[in-house]
Parts: sequence; structure tokens; C-alpha cells
Amino acid sequence: MRKLVFLLWATTLQAQKTEHLALTPPMGWNSWNGFHCNVTEALIRETADAMVTSGMRDAGYQYVNIDDCWHGARDSLGFIHPDSARFPTGMKALADYVHAKGLKLGIYSDAGSKTCGGRPGSRGYENQDALTYAHWGVDYLKYDWCNTDSLNAVGAYLTMRDALFRTGRPIVFSICEWGSNKPWLWASAVGNLWRTTSDIHACFDCLLDHDRWIQWGVVPILERQPALRAYAGPGHWNDPDMLEVGNGMSVSEDRAHFTMWAMVAAPLIAGNNIRSMSHETAATLTNRAVIAVDQDSLGIEGFRYSLADSVEVWFKPLARDAWAMAFLNRARTSRNATFDWRRESVADTVFNRTIEGAYHIRDLWAGADRGTTGQPLTVTLPPHDVVLLRLTR
Ligand code: GLA
Repeated sequence: MRKLVFLLWATTLQAQKTEHLALTPPMGWNSWNGFHCNVTEALIRETADAMVTSGMRDAGYQYVNIDDCWHGARDSLGFIHPDSARFPTGMKALADYVHAKGLKLGIYSDAGSKTCGGRPGSRGYENQDALTYAHWGVDYLKYDWCNTDSLNAVGAYLTMRDALFRTGRPIVFSICEWGSNKPWLWASAVGNLWRTTSDIHACFDCLLDHDRWIQWGVVPILERQPALRAYAGPGHWNDPDMLEVGNGMSVSEDRAHFTMWAMVAAPLIAGNNIRSMSHETAATLTNRAVIAVDQDSLGIEGFRYSLADSVEVWFKPLARDAWAMAFLNRARTSRNATFDWRRESVADTVFNRTIEGAYHIRDLWAGADRGTTGQPLTVTLPPHDVVLLRLTR
């Protein structure tokens, strides 16, 4: 008995989160927002191709993630197989294809008996599924929370964390329980990112009520984030859900959405059809100066400094004593906003940083210099749009 207890104890000690993963917020693409259950091997291959030809890979997008509905059935030994009609050459061949493009492959499962789309979940098969994913060459697992009955969330996510760790393959672990169990309080030792809200919807400022659950637009999701910023950092990120850029909002709204996700150091997981995206969508998703704000090595999320006349002003501390600053216009009409540095005092009280002295100002979307913080700055904001600045010494 003592031996058994010791063994159990030793196993618990050994199993842990894989270190050195997702030191900046993960970047990639996921099938759900654009395709829902319509996932096929052809879609994944063509998307991997488009990640390269569109310049997304070179801009930093790495993971090609298959969301729900890739599953076929479990065999008599319990091993999960992909739906052979949708994935005729199988997951290993697909992973090889994606890897040969210089990209990584992600997959999706669920802690319960079934996924949200009704496919087989991992409950009771955690080790077997983790080993299967590792054998296929999977690099990222999004793990959902449907059909979990009375399961304990911390326990269920720890079980899969340990199973992934024991495979020996570094696999980014994306916790998707919609913030229901306050994962920011416990998940930094469990996963690399955790959802903070219910599912996103491609609208700027709306809630979409489905009776039993609600989808959130960009602004309501954003509102939730500042209170959680203390919990995020390199290797463990708040996840305000995947991007809806290119999925129906206006170009300004997409730009605002992308900018604010960068301001809160969100994972940048595109969710559009990148095989046929417009020039504007590609330009938004691949703006390297904006991506650099998101991917800054400090890994500190931004905070809202002020809100007046529907204009929000946000700051995000960056490495080398730099800052990002965003003006967000939530109104349906244009706004002018002025910021006078001499009258304001900007301080990040959570991470102990202040803006003092003069900074050079660079407008990241315009790609233009805007003087220094020695003079007041006035910006013009079209409806539902942003101005994003980088302040450097
Ligand atoms: C949940 C998740 C979504 C998506 C779907 C798939 O709603 O939050 O992101 O993965 O399930 O069914």
C-alpha cells in the first residue's frame, strides 16, 4: 500500500505543464469561426498553403488548428480515428503536410463524454487520446467543456495536462471552459491559455442570445479583460476568443478588434477563410507593427485608462520602456480626441510602471511619426475605429 501511495505521489510530482511553450501569445488559425463543423482535410491543407502565400506564416502565425467535428469513431480498443470521409489520408499525413510548410498542427477535444458538436469526447480516454495526438504529430490541443456533467474543471484539465506532459511532446494546451470556473485563478500551472468568456460573434458591440447561451461581440468581450490582466503572462494567457477579422464586420471594426486583441496580449488565432480573404483583411492580419504590440516579450496586458464621449484610451507597457497606446471609438459617429501628456499621469499600478518624460510617437496603422509626448496629441477617429500608437524613448 505504501509503495502504491509513493508511486502515485511520484507520478503527480513528475507530471506538470510543459515549460517554455507559448512565451508570447500563440498565433495561428482555427476552423471554427469561419467553418464550424465543415472541416475537411482539403480545407486544412489549402489553409496551410494560404498561410504561406498570404504572408501570414512569415508575419508570425504558426498553428493551423482543426476545431470540432473532425472525429470519426473510437475503435474496439478505444483509439479515436478521424472521420475517414473528411480526412481520407489521416491525421499523421496531414500533420506531415502542415509541418513541411513550416507550420504546426492543432486539434480539438472535450473534457466531457461528447464535444459541443456531439462527437466523441476524451472523458475516460485522456491518456490514450494524448498519446494518439502526439503520435500524429499534433502541436496544440484546444480542450472544450461541453457534456461534462458534474466533472470538476480543475481536475479534468489537470488530467489532460498530465496526459499531454507524459507523451513527451510539447503540446500547447488551450483551456476552453468559457471562464465558467474562473480559470485565471488556477490555470497558469495547467495550460497555456484559457478562455475568459463565452463564444465570440462577428459583431462590434452586440450580444447574440441563443436562449441557453449567449455569444458576445468585440466590445463586451473586451470589457471583461482588464480585471483579469494580473493573471496573464508568458506561457499563460487570458484568451478572449479567436479572431473574427474577415468574417463580416467592417474594415474599421476588424482593425479595432485586431488592435484591441493586441492591446490585451490575446492569442491571435485567425478564424476567417484565408484562402480567399480580401486585401484589407490580409493587411489587417499581417500588420507587423501591430503584431509586435501583441507579441511583446514583457507579456503584460494593456489596461483602460479612460472613457469619455465613447472614446476609450488604453495603455500597454512594452519591453525597453516603450508603451503602446490605443484610442478606441465605440460610437457610430466620428470623434476627435486630444491627449495632453502634461495634464495626465499614466501609471500601471498592477505592474508598477509609469509614463514619465518624453517619448517619440509612431502611428502604427498609418506608419507615420506623430511628434513627441512634449505636445498634446489630437486624433480623428472614424466610427468603430482605432488609432494605435507606439511610444518609444
Ligand atoms: C464551443 C467553443 C467554440 C468551439 C465550439 C465547437 O462553443 O467555445 O470555440 O470550439 O464549441 O463545437
